[in-house]
Amino acid sequence: MSSTPTIFISEVGDHANEKVRVKGWLYNRRSSGGIHFLQIRDGTGLIQGVLKADHVDDELFEYAADLKLESSLIVTGQVNEDERAPIGYEINVDNLEAYQAVEEDYPISRKEHGVGFLMDNRHLWIREKGAAPVLRIRHEFLQGLREFFDNSGLIATEGPILTGVSVEGTTTLFETDYFGESAYLTQSSQLYLEATAAALGQVYWIGPVFRAEKSKTRKHLTEFWMAEAELSWVEHDENLDFQEKMLNYTVNQVAEKRSGELEELGVDVDDLIRKVELPFPRITYEEAIDIVNDAGVSMEHGEDFGAPAETALGDHFNKPVFIEMFPREIKPFYMEPTEDGEKAFTADLIAPDGYGELIGGSQRIDDLEILQRRMEEAGLPEEPYQWYLDLRKYGSVPHSGFGLGVERTITWICGLDHVRETIPFPRQINRIYP
Ligand code: 4AD
Ligand code: MG
Repeated sequence: MSSTPTIFISEVGDHANEKVRVKGWLYNRRSSGGIHFLQIRDGTGLIQGVLKADHVDDELFEYAADLKLESSLIVTGQVNEDERAPIGYEINVDNLEAYQAVEEDYPISRKEHGVGFLMDNRHLWIREKGAAPVLRIRHEFLQGLREFFDNSGLIATEGPILTGVSVEGTTTLFETDYFGESAYLTQSSQLYLEATAAALGQVYWIGPVFRAEKSKTRKHLTEFWMAEAELSWVEHDENLDFQEKMLNYTVNQVAEKRSGELEELGVDVDDLIRKVELPFPRITYEEAIDIVNDAGVSMEHGEDFGAPAETALGDHFNKPVFIEMFPREIKPFYMEPTEDGEKAFTADLIAPDGYGELIGGSQRIDDLEILQRRMEEAGLPEEPYQWYLDLRKYGSVPHSGFGLGVERTITWICGLDHVRETIPFPRQINRIYP
């Protein structure tokens, strides 16, 4: 006698008309006459288990009648094709066992809840239909990034989370006591990646960064993930070539491998793929200001782009667009200036549809004196940056890099309203629970 195989719901297609065992949770249920329809989820998919009174003994049928949502279940039965089912199959249940039969009513019922309630119950909310697909897409997106970096010959490396220096300005640092001295949670691994790039050539890092942003917007988290690359011997234009290929690759990977999840979220997958067709438009800061003003959002030279300006740029191109060559004084100290010192070799990648800045990047200053001057202008003390200055003393080379905001980019891919839905446990100015 062959034993019943335990399978994932995503694999039912390979087991049509066979008897299988599925381990999961009771997502939803309804009963009609002598039949219980049990929606079972296991993280890989959702399938309907059909339990018929005339197929199982009375005791089991009664037991199933009282099972509460999210009870953990082990179900055996035959996989039957069913055209009406979203995944094309259902299970004709022979037996069902609750590993844990839930006793209290599950707090998230299958109806509309306010966001505040859902956020308070984020540890449970992530099981739901609107939430779990986003996390699967996140997995695929991160996987795509790693693949792209690896295939491009980059080495994965790390910077520390606890640091003694600021990268992106001193106003958004989380400070902590480090045995009597001040340390900060890193805002970006960039400066350290510049060091590892000089050791390893081309490097990347994907991990959490921290910003004490007072901004309470749909684009800001206080802890978020950044995908950063640092490329030795690469100058400004090539840096942008790399970034656009990366976004094209990762979005296509997500579209190919998670089309079901994207469709569940209502994303027009063909349109998404069209939006990342290469090349992305590249415009200068000045051209961007003109476009923004023409669109009726007033903006002066020397200002940074606010949300309405970013939305205007996104609407104008309906594709991700690089804004290049910002005025030097509105950008961080490390960016390579132009000959006249007015501009810097920078680019921000702005998403369409009002999703704002997805990537910030630049060529880095490789000349020691220019860097020292810029640090002085930025009011940064040299001492904690001595190691960073060393990189300009010992074998300095032109190099460039960037940081992609993982949550912002997933928010855009999924067409969501808020970055908080793209990370399992978001950290925001007013939230550190659960
Ligand atoms: O533009 P940023 O500040 O760039 C840097 O930190 C560079 N040192 C990166 C580098 O060159 N290696 O941040 C990069 C990206 C932004 O474009 C945005 O997508 C995202 O990080 N980001 C945030 N995402 C969520 N919440 C916040 N508070 C964010 N701040 C920036
Ligand atoms: Mg930026």
